Amino acid sequence: MTLALAIETSCDDTAAAVVDDALHVHSSVIESSIDQHKAFGGVVPELAGRAHLVTIGPVVRRALIEAGLDPHAPAIDVVAVTSGPGLIGSLLIGLSAAKAYALAWGKPFVGVNHLEGHLFAPLLERPDLEWPLVTLLVSGGHSMIVLQHGPGHHEVLGETIDDAAGEAYDKVARWLGLPYPGGPEIDRLAASGTAGSLKLPISMTGPDYDFSFSGLKTAVVRATEKQPDLPIADVAASFQAAVAEQLLRKLRHVLEARDVKGIALAGGVAANSALRRGVEGIAADYGVPSYLPSLSMCTDNAAMIGAAGLHRYVANGPSGFDLSARPNWPLAEVV
Ligand code: KG4
Ligand code: ZN
Repeated sequence: MTLALAIETSCDDTAAAVVDDALHVHSSVIESSIDQHKAFGGVVPELAGRAHLVTIGPVVRRALIEAGLDPHAPAIDVVAVTSGPGLIGSLLIGLSAAKAYALAWGKPFVGVNHLEGHLFAPLLERPDLEWPLVTLLVSGGHSMIVLQHGPGHHEVLGETIDDAAGEAYDKVARWLGLPYPGGPEIDRLAASGTAGSLKLPISMTGPDYDFSFSGLKTAVVRATEKQPDLPIADVAASFQAAVAEQLLRKLRHVLEARDVKGIALAGGVAANSALRRGVEGIAADYGVPSYLPSLSMCTDNAAMIGAAGLHRYVANGPSGFDLSARPNWPLAEVV
C-alpha cells in the first residue's frame, strides 16, 4: 500500500488528508477562512495567505493523528500538494510546507494540479465507475467539460470563455444583496421561485463545448432594473435555470457525439440542486450512470489532491524540490 499525506491551499481552505492508493481516505481535515472574507464579498488573497500560514501546521497534524499516524515521523510514502492553479500566495504556503515536511521526514513529494484533483473526487466515492467518463467541472474559478479516458487521461472539450459558473453565481448574488458565497444562497432561494419569470438570453447555442456566463450576469442586472418588483426567489430561479440549461445542453452534445459510459460532476457548483437533477435526467435519457459526489467532495479538499497525487507519483515519479507554484497551470498541460 502506498500512503500519501496531501495538502491543499490553493484558495481559502486549508486542507490536509491521508489517502492510500486503493483510494481509501484515512482522514480529511478542512479549515476554512471564509468568515474573514464575507465582509469583502469575495476571497481576499492577502487574508487567505495569512490564514493558511497560521492553520497549515495544526491541520496537517490533525490529519496525521486522525489517520492513526505519528505526527512527528509518519509512516507515509509521499507528500502530495496542490502546486497550481490558484492564488499565488496561498499556493506557496502549501508548497513550502509540503517541501519542508518531505525534507524533514526524508520522503518524496509531488506537485498536483488542483483541477486534476477535482476530477479524482468522484473516484474516491465510486471506485466502480466506468470510462470514458464525461465530467462537468464547475467551481468558483473554473468551468470546463472534460472527457476522461481513464484516471489521469483527460481531454478538455470546452471551457468558459469569460466567468466561471460559480463566479457568475457569486456576482449575481452580490447584485441581489446576498452574502458570499452566493451559490448556495441562490440555490436555496430558487427552490421557492418560478424559473422563466425573468426573461434571460440563452447563451452559447453553437455546437462547440465552450461556455459563457458574463453576458447572463449582465442580463440579470438589466432585467432586474426593468422589473424591480419581481420577487428575489423568481430572479434566483430564472438565473439558476439559465446557468443549468447552458451547462446541460453542452453535456447532451457530448453524449450525442462521443462514446461515454458515465457522467460525473465536480467542483463547488456540483452542489447545485438544478445541476444535479439535470445530470440525473440526462444520465437516465442516455442509459448511463451518473456519479454525483457528496457535497464535501464537491468543494475543495485534500483527499482529492491525495488521489491525483498518488496517480501522478506512480505514473511520473516525484517532483523536484525546485518545483514552483503555477497560479495559471492549465489542466490541458497535465500529462
Ligand atoms: O470548488 P470550490 O469550493 O472553490 C473553487 O475552487 O472555486 O467552489 C466554490 C464555488 C463558489 O463560487 C460557490 O458560490 C459555488 O461554488 N457553489 C454553488 C453552490 N454551492 C457552492 N453554486 C451553485 N449552487 C450551489 N449549491
Ligand atoms: Zn476547487
